[in-house]
Amino acid sequence: MNVNPVYEKLNRCYESIKEKIPFVPEVALILGSGLGDYADGFPQEGTIDYHEIEGFPVSTVQGHRGRFIFTHVAGVPVVMMQGRVHYYEGYPMSDVVLPTRLMRLMGARILFLTNAAGGVNASFSAGDFMLIKDQISCFVPSPLIGPNSEELGPRFADMSHIYDEELKQLIRDSAAEMGLRIQEGVYLQLTGPAYESPAEVRMCRALGADAVGMSTACEAVAANHMGYQICGISCISNLACGMTDQPLSHKEVQETADRVAPLFKELVTRTIGKLGKQQSCNFSK
Ligand code: HPA
Repeated sequence: MNVNPVYEKLNRCYESIKEKIPFVPEVALILGSGLGDYADGFPQEGTIDYHEIEGFPVSTVQGHRGRFIFTHVAGVPVVMMQGRVHYYEGYPMSDVVLPTRLMRLMGARILFLTNAAGGVNASFSAGDFMLIKDQISCFVPSPLIGPNSEELGPRFADMSHIYDEELKQLIRDSAAEMGLRIQEGVYLQLTGPAYESPAEVRMCRALGADAVGMSTACEAVAANHMGYQICGISCISNLACGMTDQPLSHKEVQETADRVAPLFKELVTRTIGKLGKQQSCNFSK
């Protein structure tokens, strides 16, 4: 019998909803700022409110609704997370990544991560999109700390290819079809919730980051541990603190994310459509 409390809680959550899940998703899509209403464009085949799930962490951030939505995008069965859980809300890291793990138990094999992030690379502009090539977790505890659950993955997980090469290429191809210039770079996660100081932004740059945010990297670590194929796109909603004379506000971040949301949605939809067609992405992981 497994006595790992993290695994037990995850299973309890899964048991409490499994009868309500209308199908087996292939893709788990985490909707970041600007994509909150992405699901509205597709016929919903079921929803599960986070409140309905026993023991599930419920997000508190304004503008983040909390539910799973089941739908098909371009023929591909997708579970979307409308409203993610952030570490800065005060949840233990094992709860922050619980929804990501739960979607894997539902059957998803591909994790599509989206977020809004601050541009650290001086050649970026607000409104750009960045294909996440790799990541840095900085001052954020690993979700894998604690007793390892072999059912989820190995004790010492390999992180040499967190972001899948084939999925990256599908995103590049989708952007090219749209005539959209897409940046590529390294995403760095800090805890937040404060935006960085200019000195911290210089630190991020010195560490090799191109964008900084408050989510995603921990989800990708937990997901990679569980054997998901992963891809991710950041919407560069602003240049990071100290790179312009403007003080940063959540409003500005949200406004830019909303402004470019139609392009972001198209990029995501096209990429998922390609996933459906791509024989080599045969969910073999
Ligand atoms: N820093 C951290 N997180 C963010 C930012 C930022 O500048 N913009 C959007 N999310």
